[in-house]
Amino acid sequence: MTLSPTPADKFTFGLWTVGWTGADPFGVATRAELDPVEAVHRLAGLGAYGITFHDNDLIPFDATASERDLILKNFKAALAETGLKVPMVTTNLFSHPVFKDGGFTSNDRSIRRFALSKVLRNIDSAAEFGAETFVMWGGREGSEYDGSKDLAAALDRMREGVDTAAAYIKDKGYNLRIALEPKPNEPRGDIFLPTVGHALAFIAQLEHGDIVGLNPETGHEQMAGLNFTHGIAQALWAGKLFHIDLNGQRGIKYDQDLVFGHGDLTSAFFTVDLLENGFPNGGPRYEGPRHFDYKPSRTDGYDGVWESAKANMAMYLLLKERATAFRADPQVQEALAASGVYELGETTLAAGETATDLLADTTAFEAFDANKAAERSFAFIRLNQLALEHLLNAR
Ligand code: GCO
Ligand code: MN
Ligand code: MN
Repeated sequence: MTLSPTPADKFTFGLWTVGWTGADPFGVATRAELDPVEAVHRLAGLGAYGITFHDNDLIPFDATASERDLILKNFKAALAETGLKVPMVTTNLFSHPVFKDGGFTSNDRSIRRFALSKVLRNIDSAAEFGAETFVMWGGREGSEYDGSKDLAAALDRMREGVDTAAAYIKDKGYNLRIALEPKPNEPRGDIFLPTVGHALAFIAQLEHGDIVGLNPETGHEQMAGLNFTHGIAQALWAGKLFHIDLNGQRGIKYDQDLVFGHGDLTSAFFTVDLLENGFPNGGPRYEGPRHFDYKPSRTDGYDGVWESAKANMAMYLLLKERATAFRADPQVQEALAASGVYELGETTLAAGETATDLLADTTAFEAFDANKAAERSFAFIRLNQLALEHLLNAR
């Protein structure tokens, strides 16, 4: 098998990932700044499909118009030269001190107006780059103290912001969809829309929810103690998996942003199995970019930055190969059947059967031997062992 990715694999990276210089709350940068033009050339050289960025990853917050034009000119030239795409763009509503209480949900109305205006301008820029997804990660939308926010008003303002952005996209006729990125905490003590489930419920309250979906991140669900594969599965099932942030996390702690697969490897296996092979009984598939949102550890120099970029793609391709072998194995097929995985794909009621019909069916209740049915072994342990043996390339 080959671990060398090609653009057909649709691997994409945030400019802020390989460009992270290692500054954290306890220490200053350990690496020099990365020129975005170099990032484009390096990623293209490694076989990536695209690069993504926050407005201010590329253009500093306080850049003058002529600085902006020069940066854009050089960046676009690098894209044209390499063929690297920009499938997603996002807005920084968290670095500048003005956003210390959030953007869309800041208690200060003038700051909310500034944030929304910054987002709308960035939507124009995203469309210009040909992006199809506009990510909204509300990193500072939250609080440390419950009494500091009217929580209903905050959700109203969030809805107002997202609906205004979505309406603007439609108005302009842009081929863009918004993807909300849930995260439970960090940098705020508690962030609004903390999980995939919260975000899905929020989208249902929107006027323009048809073009609003999700950008779930592996580590963010795991920081909440949740199962990432279950999260993306529900987003897919709801037709809302618009984008994905793949990385690694080891348990409920700070956002580690490790290389994909370097956290919970078994979970990463089932994530790739779902993305590549779909649900066992069919259903919606994810066709978008495989986007890595990770941080090259600050212990490493630029050798480690490019090694880690390669490692994300290699891990994905390895897991893809393992997941394909898993599904193709006749013993696995048998085990899936024995475990009832295909049986779950059958409707509980027969075609045309109603609740009244079911109540009238004595085999379903009066004559149903619950004790006998309880004797069935689902043999899930064997199935999982087969998965792990495939994951370890022992089959
Ligand atoms: C984080 C987030 C960000 C977002 C990015 C896109 O925890 O810092 O994952 O990296 O993905 O801001 O908007
Ligand atoms: Mn993160
Ligand atoms: Mn992310």
